[in-house]
Amino acid sequence: MNKNTRYQQINWYPGHMFKSYKILEEELKQIDLAFVLIDARIPYSSMNPKIIKTLKNKPVIILFNKADLSDKKETNKWIKHYEAMGHTCLMIDAQSGRNVNLIYQSVENILSEKIERILNKGLKVKNFKTIVLGIPNVGKSTLINKLVNKKSTKTGNTPGLTKSKQWVKMENGFDLLDMPGVLWPKFEEEMVGYNLAVTGAIKDNILPLDDICKYAISFMQKYYLTNLQERYSKEINSDTSYVEVLDIIGKIRGALLPREEIDYDRVYSIILTDIRNKSLGELTFDRYERV
Ligand code: G4P
Repeated sequence: MNKNTRYQQINWYPGHMFKSYKILEEELKQIDLAFVLIDARIPYSSMNPKIIKTLKNKPVIILFNKADLSDKKETNKWIKHYEAMGHTCLMIDAQSGRNVNLIYQSVENILSEKIERILNKGLKVKNFKTIVLGIPNVGKSTLINKLVNKKSTKTGNTPGLTKSKQWVKMENGFDLLDMPGVLWPKFEEEMVGYNLAVTGAIKDNILPLDDICKYAISFMQKYYLTNLQERYSKEINSDTSYVEVLDIIGKIRGALLPREEIDYDRVYSIILTDIRNKSLGELTFDRYERV
């Protein structure tokens, strides 16, 4: 089967994301600042292209989450790219909490201009309302938990909001909606679908595992060959065929069926686990030069 045909067969567009987008459009009126969370390993593929447009001129802080797993040289190129578009960017690890404190300073910097404008008009300054937005699994809940546990007081249900939505009063004069906005990723480009699958942003049953691993191996042979060699074998080179790479990994890691045949399902699982838990090193799958 032709790879493109196979890719076009994917129709992954869960209804809850559409609903969530509608809610977001409604909530947007009262939002002053949005934290758009992207995955530092895939700063292009994990960015919903529609969101920046929808947010119009509202200030956006782009948080490159899971920076503990990304190739910092590449992450920095993307930070420059989004900064050039006028957004404030920060590299964070929501899980460990690294750099999460810097978010407060960024909010303060951005809002100080706005506060000044309000005061100049002789108006009263209210707490600013902020929201965390991002595609599934990017770390929204992890971040909200970190922010809310650290420096906040829960305000209880705000009149007019449903029970599940709570505004949490943070330091530095902002309130955070205690419920993330789930955005759907873009799927038009084949590369994006594979990047989402490789990093675990979409479930492993959405694209064929063999295709995901083929993509990942070929990408790593091109950009991270030493990582592959150090983890598995120096036998792997840039021109080693995909099946040969699988066989090498299968033999080295003992992923064998009776009669010494390679257990490819186990090899797929080894590759994807090693990529996702940093056993293959810090990796970035969106190359700035390529998109
Ligand atoms: P979501 O709300 O956007 O859907 O994402 P969520 O916070 O549930 O995070 C998805 C997964 O990403 C979780 O792992 C979480 O621990 C992990 N994660 C979040 N932030 C970071 C980070 O900065 N670095 C790393 N390495 N991982 C991060 P999980 O395996 O699904 O659950 P768990 O068992 O770790 O809690």
